[in-house]
Amino acid sequence: MTAELAVSRLNKTFLAGRPAIDDVSFVATAGEIVVLLGPSGCGKTTTMRSVAGLETPTSGQIRIGDDIVSDPAGGIFVRPQKRNVGMVFQSYAVWPHMTVAENVRYPLLNRRLPRAEMERRVAGALAIVSLTEYAGRSATALSGGQMQRVALARSLVYQPRLLLLDEPLSNLDAKLRLRLRDELRRIIKDAGVTALYVTHDQSEAVAVADRIGVMRDGRLIQLATPTELYTSPSSLFVAEFTGATNLISGRIIASDAGAARVAIAGGQELASRVPQRIAAGTEVTVAVRPENLRLSAGSAETGPAGHWNRVAGMVREARFQGVQTAYTVTSGETVWEINEYGSVPRHAGGDEVIVWVPRDGCWAYAEASTSAQAH
Ligand SMILES: Nc1ncnc2c1ncn2[C@@H]1O[C@H](COP(=O)(O)OP(=O)(O)O)[C@@H](O)[C@H]1O
Ligand SMILES: [Mg+2]
Repeated sequence: MTAELAVSRLNKTFLAGRPAIDDVSFVATAGEIVVLLGPSGCGKTTTMRSVAGLETPTSGQIRIGDDIVSDPAGGIFVRPQKRNVGMVFQSYAVWPHMTVAENVRYPLLNRRLPRAEMERRVAGALAIVSLTEYAGRSATALSGGQMQRVALARSLVYQPRLLLLDEPLSNLDAKLRLRLRDELRRIIKDAGVTALYVTHDQSEAVAVADRIGVMRDGRLIQLATPTELYTSPSSLFVAEFTGATNLISGRIIASDAGAARVAIAGGQELASRVPQRIAAGTEVTVAVRPENLRLSAGSAETGPAGHWNRVAGMVREARFQGVQTAYTVTSGETVWEINEYGSVPRHAGGDEVIVWVPRDGCWAYAEASTSAQAH
């Protein structure tokens, strides 16, 4: 029932301007949740609508299971209704004049199923989204989160081979969004359906995805598991977009295919990772996540076990944030942002400290930051 989705060299150019989708290829294996992540306007919705059949691609191929559903060069375009794809959008179209069960049953009405089978499926879909007790309620009596679960049950009830979700949580308030995103992953996994999920929110992507595809300007620039994406971002854009806020300018001293030594301001040297070899002398930006740095007091000589860079500095600011403290530490001209988890701040403004910078958490890129992308 559930099917692999293969998108191959997909392009879409609207009448004017640069391509909305630019040579995008990826495979979501059967039962996998692939999240497309990127800033507004990068082509996520257009990619999803192309898979649904609501957009006609300019070129490239889309295959669902064994069926090629779109291939302009071969004159193939399967209509949306024939693709057997479920869809959930940002605005939950739940019919107010129907009960919860009637809403969920609706897509089955013209499928000529025996009554008992129909009711079995409705009950199954309601159970998956934990709305069994609400079956007889009017849809208007539901909260936003419950309505979105009704929409989800309705898209699962006819057992689609692929589920498409476009920013399904963005109309909900922040607290509900956090709860529902974990629930969404569980629901999709329980249903066993392949899912393509679109969001601009990196923490939502991480909570929901098996793999995340980061998009920028119509292109898919990295497709990886959430941990790979966070530990080995392939470009400065991905590092920044996923929250590496320390962006240190430097120059390559020496590099091989995996690691480099980088000269930064103040005669300091950093051992760093590189996505590929970068020639000596090249100007680079080193991206480091604030939660991966460690602080120790005074003039400690030995840091945590493993490969760590030792940087002496002074605390400029300590901002207590409840579950963590955010520190700004300066070392000569270099500014480091460090987050330490825990509800007891360990350092204060003016303290002399050592910043321990993990080699494997430093990524050097031969690009300058254009930090407007991160948010
Ligand atoms: N119907 C359309 N006509 C013209 N341009 C469009 C249309 N739909 C989307 N675009 C353009 O395509 C690009 C990608 O849009 P979209 O896929 O909606 O991005 P996202 O979902 O990532 O925010 C944007 O530049 C957008 O303005
Ligand atoms: Mg969109």
